[in-house]
Amino acid sequence: MKKSSTIEQPLLEVIERRRSSRAYADKPVEPEKIKALFEAARWAPSSSNEQPWVYIYATKEQTELWSKLLNTLLEGNRIWANKAPLLVMALARKNFLANEKPNGSARYDLGAANAFLSLQATELGLNVHQMGGFNRETAKAELNIPDTHEAVVVMAIGYPGDVEMLAENFKLREAAPRERYVQDSFVMNQSF
Ligand SMILES: Cc1cc2nc3c(=O)[nH]c(=O)nc-3n(C[C@H](O)[C@H](O)[C@H](O)COP(=O)(O)O)c2cc1C
Repeated sequence: MKKSSTIEQPLLEVIERRRSSRAYADKPVEPEKIKALFEAARWAPSSSNEQPWVYIYATKEQTELWSKLLNTLLEGNRIWANKAPLLVMALARKNFLANEKPNGSARYDLGAANAFLSLQATELGLNVHQMGGFNRETAKAELNIPDTHEAVVVMAIGYPGDVEMLAENFKLREAAPRERYVQDSFVMNQSF
């Protein structure tokens, strides 16, 4: 499948600007901006309007909770995410509230909410880096996650920082061209 680094069509500026950087400035995220991020998630679409998303967040000043979130991360993520002033764990509520049956869309809907949150963050000058690389068992134990919920990603959030401060391997990744499969490889105007 062919990839390219070119944006082929005009995009919303905020989509163009969003990226998952690993460099964070040593500057806290203002409380009203934190609220704005979750407000964006709140207005995402979801199956049956179930809104199956739950977020646990901590700012760096909230040392105990922030450290618990950080310690769920795998080493390769912790090494740079420890500079992020805001850590957020995104969880999906597994069953519908109305009838307690499994909600097959819960993770899908959480992803939509996280996408909304990420774009809102970009608009506010913030960088969001989602991470699937965390230990689910540690998360469950450290954050008392009940069986009704599933931790899906942890997000490192903050103002963009100096890429030069990153370890060499991460610096190279920041500088590498961002690639995407071209539309012809995933968009069909016919059946399979
Ligand atoms: C569900 C999910 C899990 C991810 N897990 C990690 C991770 O554990 N570590 C990491 O450095 N980046 C992780 N990423 C970031 C992706 O690598 C990144 O989004 C992708 O390379 C595209 O880059 P961009 O977001 O800058 O466009 C994850 C992204 C998503 C959506």
